[in-house]
Amino acid sequence: MFNHGTLERHSLLLVAGILIVVAIGGIVEIAPLFYLESTIEKVQGMRPYTPLELAGRKIYMREGCYLCHSQMVRPLRDEVERYGHYSLAAESIYDHPFQWGSKRTGPDLARVGAKYSDEWHRAHLVDPRSVVPESVMPPYKFLAATPLSFDDVAGDLKANRMVGVPYSDDMVANAKADLIAQATPDDEGQDAFKKRYAKAEARDFDGDPKRITEMDALVAYLQMLGTLVDFKTYQADAPENRR
Ligand code: HEC
Repeated sequence: MFNHGTLERHSLLLVAGILIVVAIGGIVEIAPLFYLESTIEKVQGMRPYTPLELAGRKIYMREGCYLCHSQMVRPLRDEVERYGHYSLAAESIYDHPFQWGSKRTGPDLARVGAKYSDEWHRAHLVDPRSVVPESVMPPYKFLAATPLSFDDVAGDLKANRMVGVPYSDDMVANAKADLIAQATPDDEGQDAFKKRYAKAEARDFDGDPKRITEMDALVAYLQMLGTLVDFKTYQADAPENRR
């Protein structure tokens, strides 16, 4: 307190002092969020993306779908009535980076999985106006004609593992086989794939069983969005969702 006068008479010194005090306050509030286990509540049903879904997610980012679509249902009545249960933090736990978005030219997609058939998604992505006449969404016809390049998909799993997604060695080693199995209905790797990824659906997503295209990956990704947590049985205060 003795040099208080010095501090108050030198504006730069005062600013530096203020910054130090504010920084201490900030650290006290923010630092615990990084180590407290209760920061993100645990929720049953979450699993990492399958290699095919992960590839679809990359296409979603590459094409900038997030510029028109959010993936985050806010806890407001109009949103919950339109889209379903509000988004939980745990639902984005394996998203690197998050796809919450900040603009909704189109509807929120956090719960779009299983809302439409694969055929609908294909027709919509090839020509949105063919199913929604007033749509302003751009067409993505080329996705169905572009073979998916997935030679490096194991690397994508590894990169995600480095930032905390719990991919096992088994999942990384079989990434390519799992990707093929999910997009090929009668592939012999089906059982092993389904064992590794709970609630994952395997089928020909793009309507062309002979090829694995970018359309396969994107539709597989869209069809699983919001389907992992079972909101019919989910209760925020149930013991398994609390720690
Ligand atoms: C220029 C903005 C824009 C971009 C970019 C865009 N969309 Fe859309 N999207 C819309 C609009 C507007 C709608 C609502 C009309 C319709 O259904 O076509 C929509 C609807 C949708 C729907 C249906 C949602 C529902 O619940 O009915 C899906 C799925 C979708 N978009 C996926 C995508 C994907 C995947 C991409 C990227 C490949 C994408 N969109 C890029 C504007 C956009």
